Order: sequence, then structure tokens, then C-alpha cells
Amino acid sequence: MTLEQDWDELARLDPLWSILSFPDKRLGRWDEQEFLATGRAQVERHLAHGRALGHPQGHGAALDFGCGVGRLAPALSDAFGSYCGLDISEEMVAQARRLHATRSNCTFVGGGGAVLDRLPERSFDLVFTLYVLQHVPRRTTITSYVRSFVRLLRPEGLAVFQLPEHIPPAEKLLYDARRAAYLGLQRAGAPSAFLHRALRLSPMVMNFVPEAEVVAAVGDVGGVVLDVERVPGGMAIRDRTYYVTRGG
Ligand SMILES: C[S@@+](CC[C@H](N)C(=O)[O-])C[C@H]1O[C@@H](n2cnc3c(N)ncnc32)[C@H](O)[C@@H]1O
Repeated sequence: MTLEQDWDELARLDPLWSILSFPDKRLGRWDEQEFLATGRAQVERHLAHGRALGHPQGHGAALDFGCGVGRLAPALSDAFGSYCGLDISEEMVAQARRLHATRSNCTFVGGGGAVLDRLPERSFDLVFTLYVLQHVPRRTTITSYVRSFVRLLRPEGLAVFQLPEHIPPAEKLLYDARRAAYLGLQRAGAPSAFLHRALRLSPMVMNFVPEAEVVAAVGDVGGVVLDVERVPGGMAIRDRTYYVTRGG
């Protein structure tokens, strides 16, 4: 299975839960309006923090990398002249197009990180991504996406991206085991719906990159880290949200 196929399958099985995996929302239990409200609240909070940091200075174009069904699209397309949602899963993109059909300044495009390299440099005031980089299997790929985000920013634009900086080994092992079991049983012919619904397995990758590596990647391409929000870890996942800009 490729990553695209994994996410297409998740989009068919339980799209909203695969985007926001709250245990009580599994198996289609998200109310669509409640789900979309979580996106609006998150976008408003991150944009307010960006404003406090003085960025972005323009509000023309926003890119939502790994947009899923467009949970963040309403708030981002209200705040920016145009919104582009990019997602590796054509199935997610199809659902996003249906869900936001009346928003004329929204475009949804299928494709993974490779598409980032084909977009013109300095073309977005905002690059935004939540809960996506953690699902990319290779660390070097994640840092290459981070460099692309900086390249895509207009001068004094803002990139906001979330990414864990550490996952405790026992927790990582659990994610890896769930994925390995899912893929193994699927190869043996087990239906995906049974694996998801009855066995509660998932093909989702869970990854992290140490903060120092992320900051170095930003600096490699002339980006400036304005702030890093740190969720303290202890025994749990240490999550980070980076606020990045580039000069003229
Ligand atoms: C957990 S969902 C988050 C969706 C959205 N960012 C949100 O917060 O509502 C992760 C999304 O990232 C997409 N994705 C995973 N890897 C990707 C990649 N390499 N390039 C683009 N999209 C990717 C998946 O298809 C999925 O829709």
C-alpha cells in the first residue's frame, strides 16, 4: 500500500475520525458542524498569535498543506483572498470539494509533497499545516517539506506548522505495531472495514522530528523562526507549533 492508498482508504472508512482521532468520535460519530467548528477555533487562535508576532503582512493567498476534507478551509478562506488545499488523497480532496462547493475562493488539489516543488516560489502569504507532517514516514522528507514551506512564502508571510518533536518509544512502538498488523492482515486478505471497525487497527504512520532539526531546516533556506509553541511532554508526545517567516 502506498501512502496515498492508505489515506484514500481512511477517507472512505471514517474520514472525520481519521482527521481528528478523538476516541469517542470513531465510526462516523463526528457531527460535521462540530468538526468544522474545531477547525475555525484552531485557525483563529493561530492567526491571532501570528498577528501578535506581526505576520503575515499580506492576506492574499493561503496554502493548507494536507487539507483533508477542508476542516480549516472556512476560517482560512474567510481570512485570505484565496485558499488552496492540497492533499495526497484524491478521496479526501473529492470530499473537500463537495463540502465547500459554495466557497468560490477555495481550490482543492490532489497530490503530495512533490507538488510543493512545482508551486511558484514566494506565492503564499500563509502556509498552514496541522496534523500532517507527523504522518510522513521519513524525517528527511518532513524537513524537505519544511524548506518548501519557507520557499513558498511571500516576504513577511507566515508559515504555521505543527509537528511533534518527540514520541515516547512505547507509544511509537504501539503506532508502528498497529500499522504493521493492519498492513499484514490486509495483505492476507482481511477487509479494511473489519480491520478498522472490529480490530481498531490503523495504517497511520506517526512520526516526529527533533526541534533543532526543524529549526536548522528553516534556517537552511533563509527562514526565520518567530516562535515555537511547546506542549510539555513528560511521558507523552511533545508537540510543537512553529511560526516562521522569511525576509524580503
Ligand atoms: C490527520 S489529517 C489532517 C487534515 C487537516 N490538516 C486538518 O487538520 O483537518 C492528515 C491529512 O494529511 C494528508 N497527507 C498525509 N501525508 C501527506 C503528504 N505527504 N502530502 C499531502 N498530504 C498528506 C492525508 O491525506 C490527510 O488528509
